[in-house]
Amino acid sequence: MSRLALVTGGTRGIGLAIAQTLQRDGARVIVCGRQAVNLPGIESVITDVTRPGELAALAVQAGPVDVLINNVGGSLGGGKFTASTVEQWNGAFALNVMPAVILSQAFLPGMRARGWGRIVNIASIWGREGGGGAAYNAVKAAMISMSKSMATEVVRDGVLVNCVAPGSVIFPGGGWEKKQQADPAGIAKFVEDQLPRGSFGHPQEVAELVAFLASDRASLIAGACITADGGQSHSNI
Ligand SMILES: NC(=O)c1ccc[n+]([C@@H]2O[C@H](COP(=O)([O-])OP(=O)(O)OC[C@H]3O[C@@H](n4cnc5c(N)ncnc54)[C@H](OP(=O)(O)O)[C@@H]3O)[C@@H](O)[C@H]2O)c1
Repeated sequence: MSRLALVTGGTRGIGLAIAQTLQRDGARVIVCGRQAVNLPGIESVITDVTRPGELAALAVQAGPVDVLINNVGGSLGGGKFTASTVEQWNGAFALNVMPAVILSQAFLPGMRARGWGRIVNIASIWGREGGGGAAYNAVKAAMISMSKSMATEVVRDGVLVNCVAPGSVIFPGGGWEKKQQADPAGIAKFVEDQLPRGSFGHPQEVAELVAFLASDRASLIAGACITADGGQSHSNI
């Protein structure tokens, strides 16, 4: 019987590539976003994950999810700590961390009872080391820490929780493409100076790692945070 996967923020970019790759690998897939999309063979549910009532309704509507990909997130503008506002911090936690907490708590009991489950939290290289905006860095670090806590509590029940930390990933309509269109020379210099392979990552390259972690083949991997960044990040670990 095919497994049921839910990808938050799965209507474009990295989330969409993950959804389509899980579908390719045999899962029944549900995605959510604030706008409806038409994706062949994938159920799309309109949900604003920052609204607790809509998130709770999604958890009920989705059914017995076996594979949860907590992908939705973003920097909401980013910026330095000294220039950040309380609203920005609350917004960053509400978009990145709390949907992952709430949906994981909703689906973990069923996964544990069935003796099989996978949760992959999409963080960023900016949760593993300094860089990016202050609030974004903090929320992605929180997701990495949370993944470790969750993993050790549920691995005995056949549920594996891990984290993936992408580097800079470009796709049509995404943040990096907008920056590139606004400042082609500046982004060309960024690519040359900051990206060792000389090119951005692509959503499919992140999706292949996530699909592996969501599979039976990843049986010994729990509580890990794995980069998909072409060598962009500077941490030794
Ligand atoms: N792209 C990168 O370079 C990069 C690098 C490292 C980490 N990441 C992380 O990877 C994840 C995906 O990033 P991305 O760049 O692919 O995505 P993105 O372009 O920001 O798209 C995000 C997705 O989330 C949905 N979304 C946004 N706000 C939402 C809300 N309030 N409720 C429900 N859905 C919402 C969007 O659909 P709607 O607009 O219709 O709501 C879309 O499907 C994020 O967690 C991001 O932090 C990205």
